[in-house]
Order: sequence, then structure tokens, then C-alpha cells
Amino acid sequence: MTAKPLTNPLTVLGLETSCDETAAAVVRLAPDAPVHVLSSVVASQIADHAPYGGVVPEIAARAHVEIIDAIAQRALTEAGVGVADLDGIAATAGPGLVGGVMVGLAFAKAMALALGRPLIAVNHLEGHALSARLSAQVPYPFLLLLVSGGHCQLLEVAGVGACRRLGTTIDDAAGEAFDKIGGALGLAYPAGPALERLAEGGDAARFPLPRALIGRKGCDFSFSGLKTAAARLAATLTAPDDRRDLAAAAQAAIARQLVERTGRAMAVYADAHAEEALRFVVAGGVAANRAVRLALQDLAQSEGFSFDAPPLAYCTDNAAMIALAGAERLAVGLADDLDAVARPRWPLDEAAARERPTHLAGRKGAKA
Ligand code: KG4
Ligand code: ZN
Repeated sequence: MTAKPLTNPLTVLGLETSCDETAAAVVRLAPDAPVHVLSSVVASQIADHAPYGGVVPEIAARAHVEIIDAIAQRALTEAGVGVADLDGIAATAGPGLVGGVMVGLAFAKAMALALGRPLIAVNHLEGHALSARLSAQVPYPFLLLLVSGGHCQLLEVAGVGACRRLGTTIDDAAGEAFDKIGGALGLAYPAGPALERLAEGGDAARFPLPRALIGRKGCDFSFSGLKTAAARLAATLTAPDDRRDLAAAAQAAIARQLVERTGRAMAVYADAHAEEALRFVVAGGVAANRAVRLALQDLAQSEGFSFDAPPLAYCTDNAAMIALAGAERLAVGLADDLDAVARPRWPLDEAAARERPTHLAGRKGAKA
């Protein structure tokens, strides 16, 4: 659905609890003005999960319950906004770890009911899809690469409720590959940023790694072969130079696949938008990686696309993107009933997920 002109400003509280960050934010959407993020509070649980080498769902859900009200209160205080000023309450309703999603959604429902304001049940992926609009004027439509620890997708974003999936991972997300390879190199979870530092000055050509889907048609991704090969090799290396070269090789292999598949999606997108300005956005935690970001920027330039990447605070999980998606939905009359359910799996483009399922029943499903 494309946004119609807004007549009054909308102030929306957003809540995000789908993984290991408890986040709340207040965003104001006003006619003819840039999006205004009044506050964005993120409480990370990384320290709670670090001993386990990954996110433990039960620990995450409990941690959300313990601090959600304090985080929401802080977001309102920092925004200088009272609950009576809110036009709506938005919360992530999936996809994600369902215990955590239920915490944020139930909290939002209670607030919506108590205040008599609309609830907006937001798809976390739609939040990421819109995140570039928090900090820059990025008009619809645009091509998005969403690349994080849980997701790796190429989407044509035409507005809220109007995302078309061009490609997705058939197994792991790119961030998961960074984390697992980094873990095998002895780096603490989440290992992406540390792997990037380790790779500095390394010889990326020294260790050949699987090329996965490169050269194949379509825009899907696959990282599990690369992840397993690099992690196995990592477990055998101890010399600092070897570890550095393998980190460089893994980073280059991940970047190479992201660039090659995105290049294909750009060709598909450019065909469908021949007469329009071509815009490309990369979002998600992996967009923080300099090698990935620079390689995508070069690609965008050579293919005639503009390039935008939200600042890191909006790339990684946050509630400002959920509040913005909620406000944009509210602006076009898309609110939800109080019986909205928390969904562990929720593909953004339901038609594409039905036509081209990438996971068998019981596998991770649409989250990745
Ligand atoms: O968007 P995000 O915070 O959470 C998800 O929704 O998944 O992304 C986190 C992921 C982790 O896998 C992390 O290792 C990766 O993004 N990441 C990086 C870098 N910074 C974060 N990967 C590679 N290089 C980085 N600099
Ligand atoms: Zn996310």
C-alpha cells in the first residue's frame, strides 16, 4: 500500500522484543517533514547469552519481562512525551523467538486497551525494510538487501504492506555465518565485528572457500556450505597469520556472494522500474561490515543505483523502525485488533513464501 498524504502528525510508541534486545522508541511522523525519532532506547541482553554461544529463548523471554516497562517508560521520558500524547502503540508481532514477541505484544495490547489507542502489530522484517527512512529521505520504491543474524533477503519495497521478495537464503543468514566462523576462530558471540577486526590485513586469497550459488540464476543465497567449510578449517588453525587469512577469506566469500546475488536482483528490479530513479538500501547488522558495505556501494554505483545504509543504531535491532512502520501503517488506516497473535514465522511477502518455499516443514521457516 502506498502512503497517502498525512494531514496530522502521528506520535507512535514502538516496542521490539523479538530476539535479544528489549527496545522502545517514540517516533513522530508529520506532513511534509522528515521522520522525527524522539527517542530510541535499546537494552541488549548479549551478556546474558554470551556463556551459551547464542541466544537462549527462555532467558531472552524472561529478560524482556523484567525490563520492558522500565524501557518503555525511559523511551517516553527521553522523548518528553506522555502516554496521552500517543496516537498508537506498535509492537513487533513476529517473526522471532515467540516467547519474547509475546512479551512486547502483550505489553502493547495492555497499553492500547488502557489508553483507548490503536494497536499496530508490526512485522519485524517490515521494520528493517523501512529503517533507512528513519535517517534519510528515501522515497518508495527501493530495492533492499536485509542482511543480519536472522535474515538475508532481497526485497522490493513499495510501501507498508507492499514488499515483494526477490530472493532469500535457502539455509543460513549471512550474520549466522559470520558468527559461527568467528566462534570457530575463538571469537566471542556475536562474532561478526571481531571477525572483521581479525581479517584486517589478511590474505583473502589464501584459503579457497565454497562459492555456493554464485553463477546460478535467481537471487537466493546459501551460506551453510561456506559456513561449515570455513568453521572446520578454523578449528585446525592456531597460528595468528593463518587465523587472520581465514577470517579475511571468509569475509570476502560472504561479501562476494552478497554482491553477486544483489547484482542479479538489481537487474530484475531495473527491468521492472525502467522509467524511475533506481534506489538501493542495505540494512541489518551485517551492513555494519565495511568490506560488505563498500562492495555493495561499488555495485550500486556501477549499476546506476543510489546507495543508502542506515546508521548502525538503525541497522541492528531497534524499536524506532517498529514505531516508524507502525506510524506509516496508522497513516493509511492499517491498525490491528487486540486479538493479534505473536507469530514465530511470518514471511513479509506471503505469496512468494507460498510459491517458492525455501524451507521444509519443521525447519527455521520465514525468519531466515
Ligand atoms: O540486525 P542484527 O542486530 O540482529 C538480527 O536481527 O539478526 O544483526 C546481528 C548480526 C550478527 O550476526 C552480527 O555478528 C552481525 O550482524 N554483525 C556483523 C558486523 N556487525 C554486526 N557482521 C560482520 N561484520 C560486522 N562488522
Ligand atoms: Zn532484526
